[in-house]
Amino acid sequence: MTKQFAVIGNPIEQSRSPELHHAFAAKTGVDLNYQKILTPLDGFESTAKDFFARNGVGINVTVPFKEQAFALCDQLTERARIAKAVNTLWMQDGKLHGDNTDGQGLVAAMQALGWHLDNSRILILGAGGATRGVIYPLAQAGAKQIVIANRTLARAEQLVEDLSAAVPQTELKATGLEQLSGEYDFVINATSASLTGDTLQLPESLIFHHAYEMAYGKPSSFLDQAQQRQVPATDGYGMLVGQAIEAFSIWNGVKPELKDFL
Ligand code: ATR
Repeated sequence: MTKQFAVIGNPIEQSRSPELHHAFAAKTGVDLNYQKILTPLDGFESTAKDFFARNGVGINVTVPFKEQAFALCDQLTERARIAKAVNTLWMQDGKLHGDNTDGQGLVAAMQALGWHLDNSRILILGAGGATRGVIYPLAQAGAKQIVIANRTLARAEQLVEDLSAAVPQTELKATGLEQLSGEYDFVINATSASLTGDTLQLPESLIFHHAYEMAYGKPSSFLDQAQQRQVPATDGYGMLVGQAIEAFSIWNGVKPELKDFL
């Protein structure tokens, strides 16, 4: 029987998830149908419950429902609990399970580029949900130090306070965006600046050797500056594929190779 999946969000038209999951299915021989569902802002819970009531197997959750999905779950993975956000849902023994595959998607995408996270120093720009979701997976991949730089310093400080205990092997620090300096192996743009068309200005005193932009398909002043400095740099398409592969593997028990879909 064809397994039914969906991604729920608002807006949803831009989602690449159906084409990715259908491509994984074709490669691995899984019989599935994956649809997009646009849900009103107050309709996430009823849409998700209705999908599972009709024997749907799994749901991906995107903006702005990841925190609501987190709150609905009966069981959470460790990384979803730490992220306080869920992008992957499934039912098991009558219980709603939730995971967050975004951070592992980023780690897998960086590793696929041959970027070595072990013992690395990482600077993350932004202190919103996108940053929260990737700290624990980056730490698990071996980051020695993660500095969170945010326009609103207090939000970065709050994240450090919330997450330090979860990543005891990694030094977590907060800083403002203004006073950025120092040398990092990786800088990751997790602000929403590229999504809103805002410019991010990286100071000359900031040295970095690789740049990862979480957004994709948008002009990015962050990527432009990395390219001007001739630093290896990429947009977030690999992360998108990586999180989809993780979800596919949870639901279907078979894991496509990231490099086949980049
Ligand atoms: P998400 O869940 O995608 O992380 P969010 O929680 O709204 O979204 O967080 C957006 C992040 O981008 C925040 O860190 C925000 O900085 P503030 O906390 O100071 O608001 C950051 N951000 C958005 N626009 C920015 C800009 N033009 N320059 C710098 N940082 C920006």
